[in-house]
Amino acid sequence: MMKMPVDISKAALRCETMSTKIKQLTPGKTVAGRWTIQKLLGKGSCGVVFQVVDSKRKGYCAAMKVEYLSPEYDPTLKLEVGVLKKLNGSRDVMKLIDFGKRSNYAYMVTTLFGMDLISLRTKIKRGFNDASVLRVAVFVLSAIKQLHEVGYVHRDIKPGNVMTAGATGRDSRTFCVIDFGMARAYVVESKGKRKLRPRRASILLRGTVRYCSLSVHARNEQSRADDLVAMMYMLVEITLGVPWRDAKDEQIVIKMKKETSIDELFADLPEELKTIYNYLQSLRYQDRPDYFKVYDLLMQAMKRLQINFLDPYEWEDAEMERDSNESGNPEEKNLPVETPLTSPVTISPLVTPSTPSAPSSAPKPAEIGPPVEEINTAVDYDPKELQTKKPLSREELQFLYFPELREKKFREVLLEI
Ligand SMILES: Nc1ncnc2c1ncn2[C@@H]1O[C@H](COP(=O)(O)OP(=O)(O)O)[C@@H](O)[C@H]1O
Ligand SMILES: [Mg+2]
Repeated sequence: MMKMPVDISKAALRCETMSTKIKQLTPGKTVAGRWTIQKLLGKGSCGVVFQVVDSKRKGYCAAMKVEYLSPEYDPTLKLEVGVLKKLNGSRDVMKLIDFGKRSNYAYMVTTLFGMDLISLRTKIKRGFNDASVLRVAVFVLSAIKQLHEVGYVHRDIKPGNVMTAGATGRDSRTFCVIDFGMARAYVVESKGKRKLRPRRASILLRGTVRYCSLSVHARNEQSRADDLVAMMYMLVEITLGVPWRDAKDEQIVIKMKKETSIDELFADLPEELKTIYNYLQSLRYQDRPDYFKVYDLLMQAMKRLQINFLDPYEWEDAEMERDSNESGNPEEKNLPVETPLTSPVTISPLVTPSTPSAPSSAPKPAEIGPPVEEINTAVDYDPKELQTKKPLSREELQFLYFPELREKKFREVLLEI
């Protein structure tokens, strides 16, 4: 059966209905005889998300997204489960642990993540600095590429849908994309061959007005490039804030998106972002974005500004956090970012009892991730890092810690379409 696009205002109404209908799901209640609700983590347009604890595994916490089932609404959780199953083979993505249906709701259980970008942005009042925004960009680019490689476009890339992979250790420094409730396949398979799914002529708007591209406003079928354009608006939002952030009317947002020059939009951000944005504007529905080109530009900016993935983020460094929250001279935001290259780095190699100790030239170990054998994380640790005996340079270490961000991964073309 064809799925009808859901109007955004209807989605808000749906969330209301859902909150009242699933009243029986409160802390202490156990779902499917296994998952005991601890607390509410978030509410969105398609679901309510709880933190749950597994009765089969002592102390193991996960996230459970619940969707109220009604003949009035098209279910989206089923689709999200389908996307997560396809993503199962990818690294460093949300893992699907369980899913099922009850008489009036459907649920899915996934790895528990840490903080979303909205919460982090709220902590850093003046907005993220270049060092944070560029790293977030590389992680999100990687997540988007992985989704595209399994044949889907996300269609709702925004700060509320980007989270740290965990609350502590290395997971708290890795960003993942969540919420595949609006994802749509852009690939069709027939007779064993994959082809680009034909565009529909007329569609309703899906996604979020603040972040969607002008092509999406024009009700065109969403493409891979549109996900990346939304990512660019999201990067502006977590730094300076997009100029149309307070506009409520779609027509005003469109006007402002058209009239804001690229220099204005990315004022004060690394200039490489302008090159990326311009490049994305040149892509058509059928074009496969050159993810490596985007990655390369982000990495060029990181090199130019001497940013390393191992540097502390603003929210990890009390002094940086205080500075960024001081209501000082607003022009200070224009100062070049000083990356604390000489200050001690707070990330450490993953250490288990059987692991050789950290190389002496490596940054000092501090907080560590969970032991590898007890993975309760979406992050797949590179086995190589457990075997490394030789001291590694900081540059090498950063990709050993975050293997998904290696150049090769962005050059790789898994899906030709
Ligand atoms: N795996 C998770 N771990 C922790 N919090 C989560 C997780 N998934 C979602 N959340 C929280 O719940 C919010 C809504 O979830 P999301 O999947 O985006 O639902 P919706 O489709 O309704 O927007 C997110 O913005 C986030 O704050
Ligand atoms: Mg969401």
